[in-house]
Amino acid sequence: MKLNHLDSNENPFGPSALAVAAMQKVLAEGNRYPDNDSDDLRDKLAQIHQLEPEQIIISNGLTDLLSVIARTCLSPGQNAITSERSFVAYPTAAASARAQLIQVPTLQNGYDLQAIAKTVNRDTRVIFLANPNNPTGTLVTAEETDWLLNHIPESVLLVIDEAYYEFAQDFASKKKVSYSHSFELVRERRNVIVLRTFSKVHGLAGVRVGYGYCSTGLVARLNVQRSIYAVSRVAQAAAVGALQDGGHIQRTVENNSAEAPRIEKALSSAGYKIVPTWANFIFCDLEKDARPIREKLKTEQIRVRALDAWGIPTALRFTVGTPEQNTQLLDAFLDAART
Ligand SMILES: Cc1ncc(COP(=O)(O)O)c(C=O)c1O
Repeated sequence: MKLNHLDSNENPFGPSALAVAAMQKVLAEGNRYPDNDSDDLRDKLAQIHQLEPEQIIISNGLTDLLSVIARTCLSPGQNAITSERSFVAYPTAAASARAQLIQVPTLQNGYDLQAIAKTVNRDTRVIFLANPNNPTGTLVTAEETDWLLNHIPESVLLVIDEAYYEFAQDFASKKKVSYSHSFELVRERRNVIVLRTFSKVHGLAGVRVGYGYCSTGLVARLNVQRSIYAVSRVAQAAAVGALQDGGHIQRTVENNSAEAPRIEKALSSAGYKIVPTWANFIFCDLEKDARPIREKLKTEQIRVRALDAWGIPTALRFTVGTPEQNTQLLDAFLDAART
């Protein structure tokens, strides 16, 4: 039986055919170094987002960019703030700058912005905001982000991590919620950097490419900490190809939009506590040790994420897969959880 990968919030349809073709095309140029400035990709992104290319930094995935941000903005003795139950790379990023990371308790499984604003002290330089949050799938609205920005000192950089932007935007427009106006914040010269990745909707997690947009001044400072040639020729080509494939993005988002509610409904009807998702994964608290169920699913070739590393050993996170993968998951999970 084929392994059903529902543990890392990847795209179940794989990369776009245009991205694959673009990668194949540059393989024979593998002897040549990549463009250190990723000019082609930055120009395309600048065009799409109506920004200056100098406002964009391309990285070897967001995980790497988070550490570049931390090393640029944090020093020993200073701190960054995030939420508990948030993205696992924030502690690693802060540690790479030998700075402290303060993790504020969640409010209804999401970011408690008032508590975060109160936690800011004179040594705070950065706030990491995963929006939507991984692993709980919660959202911070545009108004709530504005509220936070208006209640923290201007010297604190707000890192708005929109790794799941396309999924969140889709849910938000259907639910008539204002999700993100991050471009406006950058244009208004607020102290923010907005992060996007090709790992999720574009299906390029294994290729490693992401980007941030912010002020040109911050891009220049981040460039000092960035490794030379960090983004391979293959990754740059893949990203440019992926941006041209609107059909692949739409298919992925539409699948998520139909399948996430189906999974949520099946789990809720069976009596499990889920947090309604704004992303491509579902957080489910079983209120008992979830690890034996994760192990049982593994024996049936289904991988899901147990959240003991986040301090939540009773919870699982399920990536939304194709309809067939989700049916296989639901059948196996409901069976395993019953026993
Ligand atoms: C909130 C969040 N930010 C960033 C990332 C990392 O993305 P990348 O694959 O670009 O390193 C993830 C990946 O799971 C994520 O959940």
